[in-house]
Amino acid sequence: MSVILSLDNVGVRFNTAGAAQPAPAVDGVSLQVHRGEIFGIVGESGSGKSTLANAVMDLLPANAAVSGSIRINDREVVGLDDEALRSMRGDEVSMIFQDPTASLDPTWPVGDQIAETIRAHYPVTARQAKARAIALMGEVGIADAAARYGDVPHRFSGGQRQRIVIAAALANNPQLLVADEPTTALDVTIQAQVLQLIDKLRRDHGTTVLLITHDLGVVSMICDRVGVMYGGKLLETATTEALFANPAHPYTRALFAANPAGAPRGARLPVIPAEWSVESLREAELLRAAIGAANG
Ligand SMILES: Nc1ncnc2c1ncn2[C@@H]1O[C@H](COP(=O)(O)OP(=O)(O)O)[C@@H](O)[C@H]1O
Ligand SMILES: [Mg+2]
Repeated sequence: MSVILSLDNVGVRFNTAGAAQPAPAVDGVSLQVHRGEIFGIVGESGSGKSTLANAVMDLLPANAAVSGSIRINDREVVGLDDEALRSMRGDEVSMIFQDPTASLDPTWPVGDQIAETIRAHYPVTARQAKARAIALMGEVGIADAAARYGDVPHRFSGGQRQRIVIAAALANNPQLLVADEPTTALDVTIQAQVLQLIDKLRRDHGTTVLLITHDLGVVSMICDRVGVMYGGKLLETATTEALFANPAHPYTRALFAANPAGAPRGARLPVIPAEWSVESLREAELLRAAIGAANG
């Protein structure tokens, strides 16, 4: 199985002026993502998921220091110069974020925003870019795409806006899509639809997806494999089926034990139970006890 993304002992530290050296935000993470799979990173808020994703995309702020090795298609990203990075990011990887509103210019027709992204990557005419943008809008499920091309973002629902952001992310035919909580801002029904869209893109184009989420329900829906993060460390990596059937790490077990519905054994759930969010689970006495046990 070919590897598209390989992390070896990745660490990220933020240098904060004056303060004592804080614990690393990401600490000794090693994992390999295979071409064409959807790999989930799950963990509670503050566990280092976004920092890890941003390290892969080289989107960390200047006060972050990255150690270890991050290889995309066998090319080292850590320490890569700006120009090489820009071409790699353009040609090979794309990222989508939690809040679609923040990714779109509110004053500009969505179609033009997608077309602009296309023209940034390919030497096409304005007319060709527009045709491709309409095709992408259709592909992500915007009905009557040609007629909606000229609408500004607020004319769309939250779920439609995230579809448009996904269309823009697909403009460069990325091999790797990094999605950081892409459905967290959406209500559960729309969340399921957007996850199904991501799954469909993977099936149709073979796009590899690194999916960041705090939600075990999201993992159970579309992830092939999953890594569990806690306190910057990757505690456990497994196929989704194996993780749900038999979580190895006490922290992971606590996540499931605190879920009142019980762990679905590799089931692909039609809807995502909201009460599965790790944020709500954090309150559970059981979880705190297990975290204490896990940390020795
Ligand atoms: N720009 C930053 N400067 C300093 N610390 C940061 C910065 N970004 C994130 N952190 C810290 O890194 C840790 C991990 O944060 P983050 O990666 O956002 O977690 P998650 O995405 O899992 O919620 C947290 O302790 C957070 O406070
Ligand atoms: Mg985050």
